[in-house]
Parts: sequence; structure tokens; C-alpha cells
Amino acid sequence: SAAEKGGYDYFMAKEIDEQPRAVADTLLGRHTENGDLALDEVRLTDQDLRDVDKVFIVACGTAYHAGMVAKYAIEHWVRIPCEVELASEFRYRDPVLDRSTLVVAISQSGETMDTLMALRHAKEQKARVLAICNTNGSTIPRESDAVLYTHCGPEIAVASTKAFLTQLVACYLVGLHLAQVRGVMYADEVGNVLAQLQDMPAKIQTVLDGMEPVRELARDLADSKSVLFIGRHVGYPVALEGALKLKELAYMHAEGFAAGELKHGPIALIEPGTPVVCVVPSARGRGVLNDKIVSNIQEVRARGARTIVIAEEGDDAVAPFADHLIYVPRTPTLLAPLVTTVPLQVLAGEIATARGNDVDQPRNLAKSVTVE
Ligand code: G6P
Repeated sequence: SAAEKGGYDYFMAKEIDEQPRAVADTLLGRHTENGDLALDEVRLTDQDLRDVDKVFIVACGTAYHAGMVAKYAIEHWVRIPCEVELASEFRYRDPVLDRSTLVVAISQSGETMDTLMALRHAKEQKARVLAICNTNGSTIPRESDAVLYTHCGPEIAVASTKAFLTQLVACYLVGLHLAQVRGVMYADEVGNVLAQLQDMPAKIQTVLDGMEPVRELARDLADSKSVLFIGRHVGYPVALEGALKLKELAYMHAEGFAAGELKHGPIALIEPGTPVVCVVPSARGRGVLNDKIVSNIQEVRARGARTIVIAEEGDDAVAPFADHLIYVPRTPTLLAPLVTTVPLQVLAGEIATARGNDVDQPRNLAKSVTVE
């Protein structure tokens, strides 16, 4: 009903706006004063976690994109190999697993059959399984050795938004926990990242407060034949997520690419006027990546693309090549998906609305897919 939507036209718009709160709630009470991180239900000892020599992340859809971001964070912080894999492919591939493998299953519903079957396969091979889940007592956390719940509240819209942001937070917490337990990060380093995470709800709010130009742009793009998304580093999974949202909601052809791969094929898709959304990494820290994507943006623009650039405030280098420039607050590189994803969610929801689609109940999709 309209009342349940709290004045919003559709649940997804409400859920997008709930993201600052959802992120804050997922961080709440997760660390003690001395910086120790507390997961919810951990039937794994610190020693078990010290014995881990490889991490596999399995998930589907949007949750898989959260896993892709986690890979960048976990390898950077924990210094052990981390692979991310679509749950539907995992067990049929006969992956190499044993008791020193940690499998992280990410699922909003906790009932996705592909993810559950991947988890069961991992357990049969004696791997340890940790679930990141939004639904208390659902099957995936019940069958896991440990659980970290995302606290975003029930997600009604079929397309995932606030669950995704809180999955990212949970992944960061798991990475920091592993790094801390294994002694690869000092408590004060962990504390620094936690403090940066605590700043994120306000930054997400800043993004939300500036979405009017994105809504206007959405109306303008509603008749596009196809929209491409490019990104580097953690901007790459964000590009994939932006494209997925557009497919799900607008029923429009959309594809995400690693910006560096453009020249190896996808650049042939660019026609005069093709919208290309570019997710630009921070100009600080990973400065090299910033230079590289700036030249990718020039390349697509030289071929006639209409560029929609998501960049960090103060990044002047991209401005001359952006037909539309959307600034997000300055953020440490690894945490940037918490802000760069938000305009892409709004864009997809508004394009879908402009096309007359039912944003909350897209055709052919289910909130939770309980068949393989
Ligand atoms: C379905 C939904 C997606 C979701 C995916 C994984 O396909 O339509 O929005 O990302 O399942 O769901 P889960 O509950 O496992 O996160």
C-alpha cells in the first residue's frame, strides 16, 4: 500500500533512501572499544581463521558483485588468495577445497538455491563456511559455521539496493576481522578503516541529497538502445552492478566492462550517442588507475559516446571529458563502492519509471530464487 511505501512511488526508492541508516545499523555494535571485531554467530575459533589459506566467495546476482568488491579488500588487507565465483558454477567445476579453505556465502534472502548448493558442496569438502545474510534463521546461515548478519531490515523490492550496500560493509568487516586475527593488520590500522566506515552513512546521504540531476538525466536516457558501464578496480564490480540494475528494471540492454578491456573488443559497440557510464576511482591513493580511466573516457568519447562520469569531488582531470558529471564525496578507494553505486541505483529506477515499468516487481524476476 501507499502507506507502507512511506510516501515513495515505489519500495526501491524508499530502500535506496534507507541506505545511510542500513549501513550505520550494520556497523553498530560490531567492534569493541579496543577495536576487536565481533561477528554474530561464530562457531569458528580464531585458530580456525588463522589456519585459512584461501578464501572463496560464492553468491548470485547483486550479492556476487558485493563478493567481487570483497576480493579486492580481502586480498589487500589479509594477504591470502581470495576468489569470487558465481554460486551456480562453483560446485560443478570441482573446486579445490579443504579444511583450510574459508567459503563465504553472501545472500540477502538466505534461501537462494544456487548459493545453498555451493555451500553444501563446500561443507562436504570440509571447508569452513561463513554466511553474510540479511534474513535471521534462514537456511544459508543455519547451515553455515559462522554468520554475519546485515542489518538493513526487510528488502521488499525485487532488485537489491540496501542489501547490497550492507553486504559490502559485512565483507569489509570480515576482511578486517581476518586481518586482525591473523596479525597482518595492527589494531590501530583496523581502527582507522572502521572510522572511515563510520563516516560512510553521512557520505551516502550527501550523494542521495544530490540526485536531482540524475533523475533528469534518467528521463533523457529512457529511449536509449543500450547503455554501457565501465570501471576499474572496485569500480569494475560497481559498473557490473549498474548494468544489472538497468537490465532488471528498465529491460534495456546494458553491459558492464573492466575499462581496460574496452580496447580488446567492447569498444566496437560504441556508436555516436551511446551512453557510457564511467565509474572513476579516486584521484588520490590509486592515482595511476585514475589516469588510466581518464584515457579510457577520452577513447570512448572520441568515438562519439555520451559520457556520464561518476567521480570523486575535486577530481578535475575528468571534467573536460564528461558530458554529465556526477560527483561523490571523497572516499578511500576500497570503500568507494558504498557511494558510487548509489547514483546507478537511482538512474536505473528512474529510467524504469520513465519507461512505465513496475520498478518493484520487474517482469520474469523473483526476489528469491529457490530453484537451481
Ligand atoms: C535474485 C534477485 C537478485 C538477487 C539474487 C541473489 O535473482 O532477483 O536481486 O541479487 O537473487 O539473492 P540473494 O537473496 O541470495 O542475495
